[in-house]
Amino acid sequence: MKPVIIQDCVLYNEDCITGAQSHLQDNSVDLIITDPPYGIRGDTLHQHYNRQEHHVIPGYVEIDENEYAAFSLSWVKEAERVLRPGGSIYIVSGYTNLYHILHALKQTSLKEINHIIWKYNFGVFTKRKYVSSHYHILFYEKPGGIRTFNAESRYGFSEKTDNGRSPNTRDREDVWVINREYKPRQQKNKNELPIELLVKMFQFSSNGGDLVCDLFLGGFSTVKVAIGLNRRLIGFEVSEEIFHAKVYELQLLERGYLIDTLRNPVVTIIKNQGRAWIPQERLALACRYESLRTQKRSKKEIIKILCEEFGRGRWAIEKALNKV
Ligand SMILES: C[S@@+](CC[C@H](N)C(=O)[O-])C[C@H]1O[C@@H](n2cnc3c(N)ncnc32)[C@H](O)[C@@H]1O
Repeated sequence: MKPVIIQDCVLYNEDCITGAQSHLQDNSVDLIITDPPYGIRGDTLHQHYNRQEHHVIPGYVEIDENEYAAFSLSWVKEAERVLRPGGSIYIVSGYTNLYHILHALKQTSLKEINHIIWKYNFGVFTKRKYVSSHYHILFYEKPGGIRTFNAESRYGFSEKTDNGRSPNTRDREDVWVINREYKPRQQKNKNELPIELLVKMFQFSSNGGDLVCDLFLGGFSTVKVAIGLNRRLIGFEVSEEIFHAKVYELQLLERGYLIDTLRNPVVTIIKNQGRAWIPQERLALACRYESLRTQKRSKKEIIKILCEEFGRGRWAIEKALNKV
């Protein structure tokens, strides 16, 4: 079947397993972001989020619970094959059949980096148990190459909040609190992922021009982000109804439309980072440290001055001072 090609995104209305076998070469993809069906028969979770059921696009293809293990293994194996060494994969999953996906991943060479919890709003109302309001995001890599991880793409390491905290560390914690999008009167896929969640994965784990793959396109949310951030994408959606209901929306998007919405992190360039210390430099550091101490400055202030003067990070300065 011929794909629909929009703005460097190649979209197949096909089953992802046979589709990947026909259209994707080994080691060809930089990043996979995907959200497989959850294998819950009669899943009505979406009704809680989308109270007007007629706005949910029909045709969602669910996988029978009894076939879920074999199905998961088949697509996870394809993901492993097409990912380049060093490439990353994010898999969004509920908890009911999560163990099948974890078990499938165990049977591949893919290695866990993080098990992320995505906490969303609109928890499903319950009276006699806790309110479920999270999904799992499995973040794995294919070993054998350099993994893209743009640790300062959103906040610089040296940035601080008003109360002295590091927004970089906070942003990189493995619990992500991101709201679902409320889209009254708009047509949407049953489990459409918020753009903000996807932008975060794209920013950390890919660069402009990289090839991203989504095996389960649904409402094309990954495609919208790929177009918005100037990535290329290849993806599959087996349902004809879903595929044709939303594909036209993509034509309206301008390439790179999300770039201006991104925050500019303050990234401090540490001139001598990674360079070995020479004895004269260590001696100069020790002398300067002593002279600053006589000025009755606090240790924090002294370290800050030394970082600037010697073009090193805080840890490097502290380590070097411990050695002199
Ligand atoms: C959880 S949804 C994806 C939602 C998507 N991430 C979004 O933000 O809209 C899973 C999608 O996979 C599709 N699907 C099910 N089996 C498939 C298969 N074998 N190949 C490709 N797509 C499939 C379903 O029709 C459904 O649209």
